[in-house]
Amino acid sequence: MSYRAVARCLAGALVIAAFLLALGGPAFAHAELESSQPGYGDVLSAAPGKVILNFSEPMELAGARLSLSDSRGRALPLRRPAFGSPDRRTVAVGLPTISPSRYTLTWFFLGNDGHVMGGEVAFQLAGATPAVAPSAPRAPVAATPPAFPGTAAVGTIPNRIAEPRFGAVALAGPEAVVRILDYSSLAVLIGGGVFVAGIWREGAKVARVRRLLWIGLAGSALATFLTLGLTAAGLQGLPTLDAVRPSVIEGVLGTRLALVLAYRGGFLILGALVLGLLTVGRDQAARSRGWRLAGAVAGLGVLTTYSFLGHASEEGPTAQAANLIHMVGVAVWLGGLIFLTTMVLPRRRPEELRVVIPRFSSLAFGSVAVMVMAGVIMLTEVVPRLGSLLTTGYGRLLLLKLGLVGVLLVVAQQARSFTERRLVLAPAGDDRAAPLQPLLLAVGVELALAFVILSSTSVLVGQLPPR
Ligand code: HEM
Repeated sequence: MSYRAVARCLAGALVIAAFLLALGGPAFAHAELESSQPGYGDVLSAAPGKVILNFSEPMELAGARLSLSDSRGRALPLRRPAFGSPDRRTVAVGLPTISPSRYTLTWFFLGNDGHVMGGEVAFQLAGATPAVAPSAPRAPVAATPPAFPGTAAVGTIPNRIAEPRFGAVALAGPEAVVRILDYSSLAVLIGGGVFVAGIWREGAKVARVRRLLWIGLAGSALATFLTLGLTAAGLQGLPTLDAVRPSVIEGVLGTRLALVLAYRGGFLILGALVLGLLTVGRDQAARSRGWRLAGAVAGLGVLTTYSFLGHASEEGPTAQAANLIHMVGVAVWLGGLIFLTTMVLPRRRPEELRVVIPRFSSLAFGSVAVMVMAGVIMLTEVVPRLGSLLTTGYGRLLLLKLGLVGVLLVVAQQARSFTERRLVLAPAGDDRAAPLQPLLLAVGVELALAFVILSSTSVLVGQLPPR
């Protein structure tokens, strides 16, 4: 790839970024409980037949976990929840006949973005002796008109807890580990595929190269399966090992998450066929236009599924497109770097290095530029108030990631200038091109930093962004 091609690539990326920004409408809210009937802390004059929960985004009923307990902590049976509106944002939960007491309804639902959300609504049926002496009345979390005649709130109860608990629920540790596996495998599979198809077709003849691509595919498939299982276990409040139990996974079948992951699985199967052809046809396959087209469809298909889950999926088309472009940039750059470091550099063939390294250097430059631009667009979509970057855990983690990206860009620039000085500008046959230690060191540091960035991102996507 020549510098003119890189300049064209960057110009294209800028046009895409400008187009995305122009598209951008108001950011949608993250899935949250906007109001409930009864409201949090309401004192009711008559028993409600049901509790109505109004969410800002569509919720899933499959696998939902709900419980109702009275002031003594006794659990009461609940009816199955049902949607109260066609847009699936309102959920009605039928209550049993209740006597005067204080009640807490705890709920866990799978949100449209694939995250498990949980929270609670506490209310009191008048006539009960308040467990805590009433203090100054506190407004319910969101004032809503009474849903049922005779159930109007006649007051509010003092809170046992300062705020209604609400937030993303996850088997945080295991989920983050699976995401690291997921993103790394994706980079190996897709970035490695682009590396072999576009930069180093001779690599298709090398058994280790094909094996690493298969490992990437297996890792992606495993991570896809575990994502579904861990979400199902998290929703049910079960331990990590239950994530592989078919009866637990069954709980979330039919949800949007399961559907998107099924599409991902389908594109991975196409990816397996593409790799099968590479294994048989080797560099002949890598040179064929049909093979490259099939590989592009499989790779883009897999990457697109990431835009339909997670925080960006709830923010509209701009954030979804930026997410896809971000992922393409991450995968192409990181996967290429992994193949360059583990497959090309150890062969120490000067003629090969002279061709492959400058080509990759240009591709990596374009990919990183695209990744950073799309990342910035995602940032403005997911965190509309930039001030909250300093005041929230999500924001601080994102700032840490950006700091690491800054260091990474400096190291990448070092590697690039080494490549230019020693491998591009040095005339053929000049053996100053041979010592690769500085380049190996730079790409090693780049890989290590990339792994830390991937790890911080894996935690980040499991947290609730600031509202
Ligand atoms: C200036 C640079 C960057 C910015 C501004 C940025 C910003 C973001 C934002 C805002 C998200 C969304 C997080 C969420 O869903 O809550 C994200 C996701 C992500 N970022 Fe970055 N990022 C940058 C660089 C990188 C780098 C260098 C890597 C890889 C080493 C990376 C890998 C990822 C991955 C894997 C995701 C998850 C996407 C998904 O699961 O759909 N990012 N990034």
